[in-house]
Amino acid sequence: MSARFDPACILVTGGAGFIGSNFVLGVLSEQPQLKVVNLDKLTYAGNLSNLASVQGNARHVFVRGDVADTELVQRLLTDHQPQALIHFAAESHVDRSIHGPADFLQTNIQGTFNLLECFRAYTQGRDASAYRYLQVSTDEVYGSLGPADDPFTELHRFEPNSPYSATKAAADHLARAWHHTYGLPVLTTNCSNNYGPYHFPEKLIPLVIHRALKGEPLPIYGDGQQVRDWLYVEDHCRAIWRVLQAGRPGETYNIGGWNEMTNLEVVRTLCAMLDDMRPRADGVSYASQMTFVTDRPGHDRRYAIDARKVEHELGWRPIETFESGIRKTVRWYLDHPDWVEGVTSGSYRDWVSRQYG
Ligand code: NAD
Ligand code: DAU
Repeated sequence: MSARFDPACILVTGGAGFIGSNFVLGVLSEQPQLKVVNLDKLTYAGNLSNLASVQGNARHVFVRGDVADTELVQRLLTDHQPQALIHFAAESHVDRSIHGPADFLQTNIQGTFNLLECFRAYTQGRDASAYRYLQVSTDEVYGSLGPADDPFTELHRFEPNSPYSATKAAADHLARAWHHTYGLPVLTTNCSNNYGPYHFPEKLIPLVIHRALKGEPLPIYGDGQQVRDWLYVEDHCRAIWRVLQAGRPGETYNIGGWNEMTNLEVVRTLCAMLDDMRPRADGVSYASQMTFVTDRPGHDRRYAIDARKVEHELGWRPIETFESGIRKTVRWYLDHPDWVEGVTSGSYRDWVSRQYG
C-alpha cells in the first residue's frame, strides 16, 4: 500500500459554511501540526461565528474572498504553499437555484474552473504525487432513484435534475478532465445529505427545528415521501480526510450514511425529539405544526448512496447512527439560540417570506 498523504498545509474553500466549518474545526483539533488557509466569500451561508472557537489560532488563516478571483487564489497558493486544496465552496441550496441559477453557474462552475487552473499552474513542474485537489460533491449529480433501484455507485451515470445539481455535475466533470488531461492529482467525493451543528436553517432539518420552536408551520413539500440518505456531518468530514490521506488520484468515492428516510419520517422524528427535550408549553405535540405545501419543481424522489468502495478501499464507515446524530443535532440547536438568531436576520427573512409566503 502506498504511503499516507500527510499535508502540512491545506487550502480549504467554503470553510465558513456548514460542512466546511465542521471540517476546519475537526482537522485543527485532530491534526496538531496542520495549518489551514480558509478562503470564503462569506455569502449569506457563510458565518464567521462558526469559526469563533479557532479565532486567534495561529494555524488557521481566514481570508475573505471569491474562489473565482484568480489573482487572490494564485497569491494564497504562492504565499502559503499548501499541499492540498479541498474545495467545499458552493452555492448549495436547491430551492435557491430554482429561483436564481446565475450565482450557481458563477460559483460552482466558474469558481471550480478557476481553482483547477490556479492549482494546475501552481503544481506545474512539481512532483504531482506530493499534491492533492479534492472536489467535494454531492449525490444529486446522479439524479433520482426509483423505489426499487439500487443505491448510486460511483459508476452511475450523471443525470442532474436541478440547476444546483447540474452545476455540481459540471464542476465534477471539469475536475475529472483536469486529472485526465493535465494529470492533476484530483480526488472527488459525492456525498449524501448531511445534518449536524452549524447547518443553515434554510435546509430541511435545521429549518424544522427552528420553525418548530418559533411555533411556525413546518412546510413539507408535496406528499413528503421523498427519500434522502442522511449522514452526520462529522462522519462526512472524517471521510473527506480519509480520502485525502489514502484515496487514489483520479478516483471518485461515494459517501453516505446507509440511512434512507422519507422526509415525513425525518420531520416526525424531529417533532418527537423536541416533544421530549423541549415540550411545548401547551403540551401539544410539535407534529401539529406540520403543513403540506406545494412541491419543489423537479423534486428528486429518492437518493441513496452505495458507500462500499470507500469502506472496502479506505476503511471508512460512519460512526453515528441517525438516532445518535439527530439527538446531538437537536441538542446543539437547543443550546445555541444565539447562533440561530445571528444567522436568521436580514436576508434570511427575505428568503423565507419569498419561499414560504
Ligand atoms: P453551505 O452553503 O453551508 O456553505 C457554502 C460556503 O461557501 C459558505 O461559507 C459560503 O460563504 C461559501 N461560498 C459561496 N460562494 C463562494 C465563493 N464564490 N467564493 C468563496 N466562498 C464561497 O454549503 P455546505 O452544505 O456546507 O456544502 C459544502 C459543499 O458540500 C458544497 O460543495 C456542497 O455542494 C457539498 N455537499 C453538501 C451536502 C449537504 O448535505 N449540505 C451534501 C453533499 C455535498
Ligand atoms: O443530497 C445532498 C444534497 O443535500 C446537497 O448536495 C445539497 O447541498 C443539500 O442542500 C441537500 O439537498 P436537498 O434538496 O436534499 O436538501 P434540503 O434540506 O433542501 O431538502 C431535503 C428534503 O426535504 C428534500 O426532499 C426537500 C424537502 N423539504 C425541504 C425544505 C427546505 C421540504 O419538504 N420542506 C422544506 O421546507
